[in-house]
Amino acid sequence: MNAVTSPDRKAGKRHGRKVARETEGGTDIYGLDGTADAPRPMSRAEVHVGEPEGEPLLDADNLVAGYLPGVNILDGASLTLHDGEIVGIIGPNGAGKSTLLKSLFGLVRIHAGRLMLRGRDITNLRADKLVAKGVGFVPQTENVFPSLTIAENMRMGAYQAPKKFDERFEYVCSIFPKLGERRNQLAGQLSGGERQMVAMGRALMMQPSVLLLDEPSAGLSPMMQDETFIRVRQVNKAGVSVVIVEQNARRCLQICDRGYVLDQGRNAYSGRGRDLMNDPKVINLYLGNLEEEVEKAGQ
Ligand SMILES: Nc1ncnc2c1ncn2[C@@H]1O[C@H](COP(=O)(O)OP(=O)(O)O)[C@@H](O)[C@H]1O
Ligand SMILES: [Mg+2]
Repeated sequence: MNAVTSPDRKAGKRHGRKVARETEGGTDIYGLDGTADAPRPMSRAEVHVGEPEGEPLLDADNLVAGYLPGVNILDGASLTLHDGEIVGIIGPNGAGKSTLLKSLFGLVRIHAGRLMLRGRDITNLRADKLVAKGVGFVPQTENVFPSLTIAENMRMGAYQAPKKFDERFEYVCSIFPKLGERRNQLAGQLSGGERQMVAMGRALMMQPSVLLLDEPSAGLSPMMQDETFIRVRQVNKAGVSVVIVEQNARRCLQICDRGYVLDQGRNAYSGRGRDLMNDPKVINLYLGNLEEEVEKAGQ
């Protein structure tokens, strides 16, 4: 399968055509023939605008990665995360957001570029090694064991440090008390929002310094989505730095210190959350269309 002809890529093209019509008279970024050209390469300074000083906690530099030989889904994607930050990744369907998160967690092979954790090279390190180094990951789907209880799910999260289970579970319950109150309930019996809390709790059992979240609000009611964003902030306030991928772009940018717009495997825009939210180009090209996609998905 070629990345350019995959269904998700076609969605990206539709997105491109729509933009071309809407920006008539303005900068024709995508071309009127409907071929969605990749965004122009951004300079390092542009990619890292608004970044705090000092060594980043996580530094992904120009990652090229993909699933199949010769097909690169990430085409030079970069991001940094500093201590205490929440950093958001938004962008159209099929842009490579999940692929970027998976490449940060050793689940997709990085062919070129470099990934550093606190100044140490962790490029292509296995996921279990990354967990031991303080990286946690919550995938977009199938992120809990439905036939296990909440406590058993938490035990799976602490399988690398079983003796520390009680201490870690207490830590997780200090952030999400409900998980302790309902510890014997099966995860499969919980609502979508509660399951998302279990998934985050499981990843927090190893007390990570970095938490990677893939679309935690997907498929939830608007009220539960709000709760999820509040939880992400709680986790962050508890001292965990967060990289969050979101379809709910506007809401995501509201809670983020900085955000990256990914399009066709590359950085298209980046900046402070609120600056991106108010940038007319970002609104025109991404936010309006993304909101439509979210609405359609909810219908
Ligand atoms: N396991 C996989 N094998 C092959 N191609 C994949 C796989 N997962 C995703 N892709 C392709 O990678 C591209 C980006 O997908 P993804 O990272 O899931 O995008 P996003 O999360 O931004 O919607 C898409 O073209 C998709 O079809
Ligand atoms: Mg995704």
